[in-house]
Amino acid sequence: MRVGVIGAGAWGPHVARTFAEETTSALVVLADLDEERLALAQRRFPGVRITTDYSTLFDMTLDAVAIATPPDTHHAIAKACLQQGLHCLVEKPLAMSVADARDLIDTAHAHGRKLMAGHTFEYDPAVLEVRRMVQERELGEVFYLDAVRTEIGRYQLGSDALWDLAPNDVSIANFVFDGTPERVTALAGSFSGRDRTVNDLVYLHLEYPGNRLANIRVSTLDPKETRTTTVVGDEKMVVYDDVSHLEKVRVYDRGARTGAPRDPRERSPASDRYGAISIPYLPPEEPLRVATRHFAECVAGNIEPRTDGLCGLRVVEVLEAAERSLASGGPVEIGVRASARS
Ligand SMILES: NC(=O)c1ccc[n+]([C@@H]2O[C@H](COP(=O)([O-])OP(=O)(O)OC[C@H]3O[C@@H](n4cnc5c(N)ncnc54)[C@H](O)[C@@H]3O)[C@@H](O)[C@H]2O)c1
Repeated sequence: MRVGVIGAGAWGPHVARTFAEETTSALVVLADLDEERLALAQRRFPGVRITTDYSTLFDMTLDAVAIATPPDTHHAIAKACLQQGLHCLVEKPLAMSVADARDLIDTAHAHGRKLMAGHTFEYDPAVLEVRRMVQERELGEVFYLDAVRTEIGRYQLGSDALWDLAPNDVSIANFVFDGTPERVTALAGSFSGRDRTVNDLVYLHLEYPGNRLANIRVSTLDPKETRTTTVVGDEKMVVYDDVSHLEKVRVYDRGARTGAPRDPRERSPASDRYGAISIPYLPPEEPLRVATRHFAECVAGNIEPRTDGLCGLRVVEVLEAAERSLASGGPVEIGVRASARS
């Protein structure tokens, strides 16, 4: 698969590297508006063409593009590429509105091209293990998922903590629960920047079918880099720590027991249960590499990507509902709005 990467900022060169290293793909061209970034990328990838105008890719012999530009540019660039017959891997979030995400799905369909959302975490062996434990009921009945993703200073033009960080956790929650939330409630804080319009801190409360909850906190104004997902079941609990190198997943055989009160005047007694902590073996695979290889295989074999346009849309639906919740100050139903539109 001959591929071009559009966007050579912080993330694009990682995407480019994985395409360059895989035997199933060849990195042909890099595009970015910024000449300095292109010059830097050229030193890393000698022999690869560079351009400040991504539309010059349309005159080259290419099969596919990966789009790693800021979120508010994804729709326009991906649409143009799909219309030119290029398969597209679009970094998260797929688009910045449900209408735009739907439009990309329709455009890909109309032109018979593959559209894949760059939900890298859904290709992470650690996340796959957490999902397996939830789906195979190893944690028992799952009560809630709690995700924290914080860091300092990743300010993206046209984006904020909601659109830059939360897509990762929403995609993880949808994947682990194998579904989409029915209701979204959001709270946000804007502290940095003169006009205070960018949300540095966002809390999301997602209600999934079956009384499963996901709580997500994302912040671009936090002294510590944290990336954890905790899932609490009635039998076991699991913590996925993406920042840890050797012990990304720890399973806690812990819980709370409730029993019938001995005396009717007592409240139902709860006692803590402490058991072993285990660390499952995980294959040492780089998630991005697994994802880009999967994209190449889907293009070559005419297979629908696991994180296809619809999967990307499901995340955008949550983010857009969160925006509406921030505006209204209350919970927003996702299904109601979606079915009213379709
Ligand atoms: N999957 C992941 O784990 C992961 C991780 C980090 C970032 N991302 C995503 O990757 C994307 C890029 O993030 P980043 O951190 O690299 O951002 P960045 O701001 O560092 O880089 C974006 C680059 O795109 C370029 N650009 C903007 N408009 C362009 C255009 N019209 N044509 C060509 N180039 C253009 C900019 O000049 C810049 O160099 C975002 O969507 C982000 O959410 C995904």
